[in-house]
Parts: sequence; structure tokens; C-alpha cells
Amino acid sequence: MTMLVILLLLPRLTLSATSSYSLPEKYYVNCGSDSDVIYGGRTFVGDMTSGGNSVSFTKEGTETSSNQSGSSTSPGIYQTVRIFRRTSSYKFQLDSAGLHFVRLHFSALSSPTEISTARFTVSATSGSNHHFKSFSVQNLTETPRVEEFLLMISSPEFEIQFVPDPSSVALVNAIEVFSARDDLDILSKFDKNLHTVYRLNVGGKKITPENDTLGRTWSLDDDFLYRKDAARNNQTAQKPNYESGSVSATEYTAPDPVYKTTKTMNRSSSEGVGLLMNVTWSLKVKSNTRHFVRTHFCDILSKTLNPDSDFYLYVNGHLRIDVKPSERVRLVTPFYKDVVDVSDGSGLLNVSIGTKELRVDAGFLNGLEVMEFMEKSASVSSSKSSSMVYIIGGCVAAGLILVLSLLFMVFLKRRRSKNKKKKADAEVTVWSPLPLYRGGGGGGSSDNRPFDPVNNSPLCNTQSSNTTKLELKLYFHQRLNGSSQFSVATLVEAQYASFDYLSNGP
Ligand SMILES: *[C@@H]1O[C@H](CO)[C@@H](O)[C@H](O)[C@H]1NC(C)=O
Ligand SMILES: *[C@@H]1O[C@H](CO)[C@@H](O)[C@H](O)[C@H]1NC(C)=O
Ligand SMILES: *[C@@H]1O[C@H](CO)[C@@H](O)[C@H](O)[C@H]1NC(C)=O
Ligand SMILES: *[C@@H]1O[C@H](CO)[C@@H](O)[C@H](O)[C@H]1NC(C)=O
Ligand SMILES: *[C@@H]1O[C@H](CO)[C@@H](O)[C@H](O)[C@H]1NC(C)=O
Ligand SMILES: *[C@@H]1O[C@H](CO)[C@@H](O)[C@H](O)[C@H]1NC(C)=O
Ligand SMILES: *[C@@H]1O[C@H](CO)[C@@H](O)[C@H](O)[C@H]1NC(C)=O
Repeated sequence: MTMLVILLLLPRLTLSATSSYSLPEKYYVNCGSDSDVIYGGRTFVGDMTSGGNSVSFTKEGTETSSNQSGSSTSPGIYQTVRIFRRTSSYKFQLDSAGLHFVRLHFSALSSPTEISTARFTVSATSGSNHHFKSFSVQNLTETPRVEEFLLMISSPEFEIQFVPDPSSVALVNAIEVFSARDDLDILSKFDKNLHTVYRLNVGGKKITPENDTLGRTWSLDDDFLYRKDAARNNQTAQKPNYESGSVSATEYTAPDPVYKTTKTMNRSSSEGVGLLMNVTWSLKVKSNTRHFVRTHFCDILSKTLNPDSDFYLYVNGHLRIDVKPSERVRLVTPFYKDVVDVSDGSGLLNVSIGTKELRVDAGFLNGLEVMEFMEKSASVSSSKSSSMVYIIGGCVAAGLILVLSLLFMVFLKRRRSKNKKKKADAEVTVWSPLPLYRGGGGGGSSDNRPFDPVNNSPLCNTQSSNTTKLELKLYFHQRLNGSSQFSVATLVEAQYASFDYLSNGP
């Protein structure tokens, strides 16, 4: 019963945690270095100087390499690297549990040749369970490479482990671990384990970490337009009017330049107003995988607040969301819409904006972020983890069936009431004949995502001590455009978390 009470309190606790947020001062680690470097407005502390208790790493079997010559143009964090010849890890003592950004920087710029053939595993753990999967780095010639994750960390003890393959080394140039504003519209808190795939400044210029409020990189969107001449850029010099309140966009949601530039419908003189029109961005993603899509909007085009500026947002053709810039308090007010959807077998994720009515010309997009859910993958489950889940499942199942059904009812109720709220706000409608829950994962908005009592139920949490176990299987591969990128193939093998920290406040 105590647990039920805690569960009911949960949304309130997370909300209060998100109401004020500013860029945390830690942890930014300049690996393989004894000096600090400022990058993207943050101070990356050399891992040889940060001798405090907060960040530590296993020094044995590691070495450093640096290159000052010829690389003066590359940021300081890439001029030194830590190389691991055996299993080693960085340990972080976080101020609190909760949602965190985790970024890993890899570069071969300053590295010996053995780096380019490095194969290694990276895993992230909060709590006491460890588990590794094989992971290979094949091409580090195109550098630097940054891998970003958003992880719901369940215990303040956070560890990132590097395990080189036999006769190989592992490496890392810099690590960032810092708390994030927990504003993701995802139903289950335990589902928030995401890997960033795309981050686009639509209609604008590339934004580097120096110009972002959280050290992010925003790329150009043009290459992803399905029909390039269907859209045109527009921009404003006016500073965005951020609305106060924890549910709207802040300067940390996306920086000013994202909201000051946009892409809108390109009406050619021949077409003019009087035709329905779509602009589509088509992004290559992993097939049949659940994705978190955040679309950023800011009406810099309209002269007045007017329902004529409202339009539709489509995701994968079957999810339609009503976007209503006219309901903002003022013009040039940033806001965002979150969508959770499963990619289909085409390996493409389509995001479109479309006019609502024949007689009006509307529709724009300012920014687009796509993140892949890292979740349990049946095909790669190892005997160790699956047997563990099995054993835990076996012991608990009998005793907790009653509580489970109770919880299930609570969740159904919460979901229903949340859905109701949602309807009024976003008017998510599914109008396509496509099945709602394709791929067994989601296919609706986050609110439509089926509740999975086995993997998502907070019940598991009563079981294990403060532990979230993540498993990241990473490998480089060639993209169609010739650039190689990391991709994450494996996921959370099992997730356990305890509510212990909640009772002390997050
Ligand atoms: C330093 O970098 C330059 C150019 O990137 C490279 O040619 C040189 O071999 C590097 N030196 C060392 C010691 O890694
Ligand atoms: C590594 O990437 C570079 C640049 O993209 C490419 O020219 C080279 O062929 C790649 N090497 C391998 C082994 O894939
Ligand atoms: C990025 O920031 C630098 C320094 O603050 C500034 O000079 C530059 O114009 C900014 N670039 C963009 C694209 O905003
Ligand atoms: C807009 O459409 C016209 C006519 O189709 C085309 O000539 C023009 O290049 C397009 N503009 C952009 C920015 O693509
Ligand atoms: C940008 O939008 C404004 C307002 O709708 C419009 O007057 C202007 O022509 C647009 N500029 C471009 C380059 O499309
Ligand atoms: C995305 O658009 C492309 C091109 O129109 C289409 O081939 C593909 O099936 C679409 N994928 C989804 C998931 O809608
Ligand atoms: C816009 O896209 C939606 C979803 O793919 C589609 O149903 C609609 O017919 C499209 N409209 C036009 C005018 O192409």
C-alpha cells in the first residue's frame, strides 16, 4: 500500500523537479589529460586532476595520448584520449538520481593507429549489476564522433565501463554526465532510456555545442526533405518569447537560433493558395523500432494570433496532431510536441506538416529531434540476463499477482484521465486504417502505448536494490551518405529501480 501511495505521488514529485532547471556544472571530463578545457561553455576537468570523490576511474591498464601539433583547430577535448588495455570504468557520484544526459566523445585525430582498429564494449550502469555485449569500432577516420543518451538513472552511483576486445584497446576522449530537465512526454518513467539519432535545426544553420544551451549539436535539415522544393526557409531577428511554466519550451528545450529559423510551405506562384499541401522530412532509422520524436515550433510568420495559422503534424502518415500556434499567449512563442511511434519495415521515419484547409496557407517546423528507445532485445538476450529475469519473475509472480492487478487498474485509470487531458490539448487522432500498435511497441502517441506489466511495471522495483542496468551495444557502420556513425543495437536487458530516493526527494 505504501508503494501505491508513492506511485500516486510520483507525477507531482517529478513535476516539481522540472520546474526550474539550469545547466549543471558537472560532470564534464577531459579524458587522458591533466588540464581543464572549456568547450561548449562548460569546463571539462582533466581526469588526472579531478581527484575528488565525485569522478574516479581505474588507472591500471590505461594510458593517455595527446597531440598538440597539427590539431590546433580541433577542440581541446579531442587533443587527449584515454586508452584502455583492460576493463576499466569511470564512476560518477551524482547529486541525485533522475534523468541525465550522457555523452561520449570519440576521436582518432590524436591517436595511434591501433585506435582505428579498436573494438570494445561500453556499458552504463547505475546500481550493482553489470553486463556486457560485444561492440566494435571499425572506422574512426571520420572524427570526432559523439554519442548521446538520455538515461533515467536510478541510483546516484553511476558507472560507465569500457571493455576492450581481446588484442584491442578501448578509448574515450571526453565524457559528459549531467542532469536533464525531465520534460519528456513519455508515460513510464522507466522507459526513459533514449539514444539520440537526429537533431535538426530546421530552416537554419548548423548549431555547434558552443552555441547551444546544453552543448548539443543541431544539424541542417535540407538533406532529409523528401521534396526539396516543397519548402523554403524563413527567419526572424526577434528573440523568442519563452512562456513561463514547466510545461512549455524554455531556452534549454532548444536554443534561440532553433526557434528563430523555420521552414514553411513553398507555394509556387502557379499553385498559390487553394491546394492542400505537405512538406515531409524522411529520416533513415532502424526498422521496427520505437522512436521518440520531438518537434519544435515557433510562429515567426504570422502577423496576428489567428486560427488560420493552425496546421497538422503527421508522423509516419498515420498519426495526426493538431498544431495550434494560435493558442499561444503571444506570437514568436516556442513550443514543442512529443510523439512516440514505431518505425515500420521501410526503415524510414516520416515527419510531415500539412495544411488543414484549402483556403488557408499554414504550416511550419523549427526543429526536429529523433531518439531511439533502448529497450530489451529478445534476439540478443544472453543466458545470464534472461535467467535472472526468469528467477526474479518466478519468485515474485505468485506473491504479487494481487498487487499487480491493483496497479494495473491504477495505471489504466491514470492513463484514461491523461488521455482525456491530452485530447483537449493536442487532439491526437488516429485516422489511418493502419493498426495502432504496430510492431507490438507503440504506434500511437505516448499515451496510446500499451502498458507492459512485465517490463515497465514498477513492481519489478520492489525486487532489486537501487539498480538500473543498461546495456549498450555499439558499432560503427557506413551510412548511405558515406559518413560513418555509431549506432546502438542493444538495449536495456532488464531494468530495476527502487523508489528509495523518492522518499528523500529527487
Ligand atoms: C599528430 O597529428 C598529426 C596530424 O593530425 C599527425 O600527422 C601526427 O602523426 C600526430 N602525432 C602523434 C604523436 O600522434
Ligand atoms: C573509413 O572512412 C573513410 C571516410 O569516410 C573511408 O574513406 C574509408 O574507406 C573507411 N574505411 C573503412 C575500413 O571502412
Ligand atoms: C555562436 O556563438 C559565438 C560566440 O558566442 C558567436 O560569435 C556566433 O555568432 C554564434 N554563432 C551562431 C550561428 O549563432
Ligand atoms: C519554390 O518553388 C518554386 C516553384 O516550384 C521553385 O522554383 C523554387 O526553387 C522553390 N524554392 C525553394 C527554396 O526550393
Ligand atoms: C518570411 O515570412 C514573412 C511573413 O510571412 C513573409 O512576408 C516573407 O516573404 C517570408 N520570407 C521568405 C524569404 O520566404
Ligand atoms: C515514408 O515516406 C516514404 C516516401 O514517401 C515511403 O516510401 C515510406 O513508406 C514512408 N514510411 C513511413 C513509415 O510512413
Ligand atoms: C499529407 O500527408 C498525409 C499523411 O501522409 C496524407 O494523408 C495527406 O493526403 C497528404 N496531403 C497531401 C495534399 O498530399
